[in-house]
Amino acid sequence: MTPPASHPAPGRIGPADSSFPLDRRVFGGFVEHLGRHIYDGIHEPGHPSADARGFRGDVIELVRELGVSTIRYPGGNFVSGYRWEDGVGPVAERPRRLDLAWHSTETNEVGLHEFSHWLDQVGSELMLAVNLGTRGTAEALDLLEYANGAVDTEWVRRRAAHGRAEPFGVTMWCLGNEMDGWWQLGARSAAEYGALAARTARAMRRFDPHLQLVVCGSSARSMPTFGEWEREVLSHTFDDVDFISCHAYYEERDGDAQEFLASAVDMDLFIRQVVEIADEVAAARGSDKRIMISFDEWNVWYQSRWNAIEGTQPLGEWPVAPRLLEDVYTVQDAVVVGDLLITLLQHADRVASASLAQLVNVIGPIMTEPGGPAWRQTTFFPFSLTSRLAGARVLPVAVETSTFRSSRFGEVPTVNAVATVDDGGLSLFLVNRSLEESAEVRIDVAGHGAGFDVAESHLLHEADRYAVNTLDDPDRVRPRPFDGVAIDGGVLSATLPPVSWAAVRLTPRPVGG
Ligand code: AHR
Repeated sequence: MTPPASHPAPGRIGPADSSFPLDRRVFGGFVEHLGRHIYDGIHEPGHPSADARGFRGDVIELVRELGVSTIRYPGGNFVSGYRWEDGVGPVAERPRRLDLAWHSTETNEVGLHEFSHWLDQVGSELMLAVNLGTRGTAEALDLLEYANGAVDTEWVRRRAAHGRAEPFGVTMWCLGNEMDGWWQLGARSAAEYGALAARTARAMRRFDPHLQLVVCGSSARSMPTFGEWEREVLSHTFDDVDFISCHAYYEERDGDAQEFLASAVDMDLFIRQVVEIADEVAAARGSDKRIMISFDEWNVWYQSRWNAIEGTQPLGEWPVAPRLLEDVYTVQDAVVVGDLLITLLQHADRVASASLAQLVNVIGPIMTEPGGPAWRQTTFFPFSLTSRLAGARVLPVAVETSTFRSSRFGEVPTVNAVATVDDGGLSLFLVNRSLEESAEVRIDVAGHGAGFDVAESHLLHEADRYAVNTLDDPDRVRPRPFDGVAIDGGVLSATLPPVSWAAVRLTPRPVGG
């Protein structure tokens, strides 16, 4: 690791004309029928806080506080075997089905109507995925007409008979899920999927040309077909879609925490490479259309634990709502999540939508106990603070920082930062990726206002970077005020401890103040 400069030169926030708008859909989430996400998670009819439809009020409060804009539903791997019709109509008549993706039993007690009711309570917008695994264009069109139809047809009558006269008005649709993955029901080659996605997109746009459609990119940058998949799929669908998806999960592997703390470098490369490919496809067609990225699955996920332990559940058993993928997140995990959010904001000129995967119990920032409390995991805090403090436009930040050596990425900057601006002030989001060194940060903020006061400052850091929140100790980890943030002569200075994430809100100093 290169030594930190004792007093680094002030870093710069890009000039106002380098700013770009931030699409709030970047603060999206993802709810899949998986494990205890829906059942015994958001939906627990017997719970003391449950509403008349069985949705937990304490969870609704926490999701509101998290600040989630859009929510992708109902999967994930689950959607590739899902029959959406199973989830509408009288609950008592809905079929129980095997969920082949997660080796569980799906009761279908929650479907489109119930989920939409829940979204109204949490104040988020629905982003629907269609099944292009075991099903195809016709069923996608049926769902579209059922959800959004406004004229007198059989599907619209059925929706009304099920209690919803008004259309759901879903604008964002995912054309399947991770169709490149061997684990996906109905996985296809890029050529097969590209042709199916294009046919489906064109048909859906006959219904409504203003739909926003997301085509599946690679399920990970590490997929052997990454790059070629994007090129081929976009060569089929370029004219008919608005977004291509990216999915990425990170974890500490082989005890190498420093490498894990560099995870955002991978996300940064991923976005740059997909943008490059999308723009090459555009250039080859002489088009100036810009395909945007929907980073609709991202998080820390200890997949190696899942593969080693949970993935081996007995084949004869098909439990309802088993405890699956219930990662307990550390402070270090939360610092990585904060850094991934900084990276998404840095690319908000092309990443117009993103979904933290997932929301409750299943690799989620919120955990619940049946009949008991709900609590915030460590990863809740960088998400809620970034969502609450981020302003309407993003500004790049160039900081003077030391670097460390990563086996995958070479020299990696120790500090990463981004700013946002709006009429009310400036927000800064910062991370120190170093395992050992504190980082003194100095940033010239004078170019963005005559004078600023520190209105709020939050620091996520613990001496024990593996500290967690649990049922027994749900408030062990909390962000604290980031003491020591100062502004002197238009330069903000602060010292970030090792493995820490911070958010600072600056508001214009009152005239004469
Ligand atoms: O989020 C868990 C799973 O990860 C999703 O179902 C799938 O899309 C991805 O592989």
